[in-house]
Amino acid sequence: MSAEFDIHADRYAATVERSIAFSGLRHDFFLRAKARLLGEVFAARFPEGRPTLLDVGCGVGELHGLLLPLTAALSGCDLSDESLERAAQRHPSVAYRRSGEAALPFGDASHDVSLAVCVFHHVPKPARPALVHEMRRVTRPGGIAVVIEHNPFNPLTRLAVARCPFDADAELLRAGETEALLREAGFAAVASRHFLLLPSESAPALRIEGAFRRLPLGAQYATIGAA
Ligand SMILES: C[S@@+](CC[C@H](N)C(=O)[O-])C[C@H]1O[C@@H](n2cnc3c(N)ncnc32)[C@H](O)[C@@H]1O
Repeated sequence: MSAEFDIHADRYAATVERSIAFSGLRHDFFLRAKARLLGEVFAARFPEGRPTLLDVGCGVGELHGLLLPLTAALSGCDLSDESLERAAQRHPSVAYRRSGEAALPFGDASHDVSLAVCVFHHVPKPARPALVHEMRRVTRPGGIAVVIEHNPFNPLTRLAVARCPFDADAELLRAGETEALLREAGFAAVASRHFLLLPSESAPALRIEGAFRRLPLGAQYATIGAA
């Protein structure tokens, strides 16, 4: 796993761009959609101020330029040293640390939010519960975990995954499977919302997406659980 993403670290963004080129959309569009969703969730859950966040499996920190303004402090961890090195060059204010396969290098209840974006489909099924338990451990009571994953029911998502060289090992998770993992790890009020339904960020498109968020239609989904 580590070696796989070490190899892709220096051209991660270009590899993603190539695998989604058929959609006519740029990677930025997908990053902004995630940041928009997270911004909405944080505003609702943490009205008193911006949360501290640990990005588990943060890779080269693609999302971190957009996460920094949403957070009071941002940390990231990953198995890939090469990816962490790149991330640290891009975002010197983020605290990056090397993870073990199922050991997060942060203390108990150390963060308001633990986040994992497109990580679990790379984690072998038997190893997934231990990683979610670690996310539970580092999330403070009153905090949340957010797991963003590809929606296996969306045919365009499947095409993008099939075209992406570093997704060769990917085993996609249905939202129900991700919800079960979070519940089993002790998270409460677990629910998912689907997003990236339409190839537009216009207000009407986002309203339609919001209306359909409970249906497994969008390209990705976010599963959220309360610690
Ligand atoms: C597809 S990349 C996603 C990177 C980043 N989250 C993003 O959305 O741009 C998956 C990342 O998960 C990391 N990863 C996989 N299993 C992990 C684990 N058990 N603990 C920490 N990171 C892991 C990989 O090294 C890789 O950097």
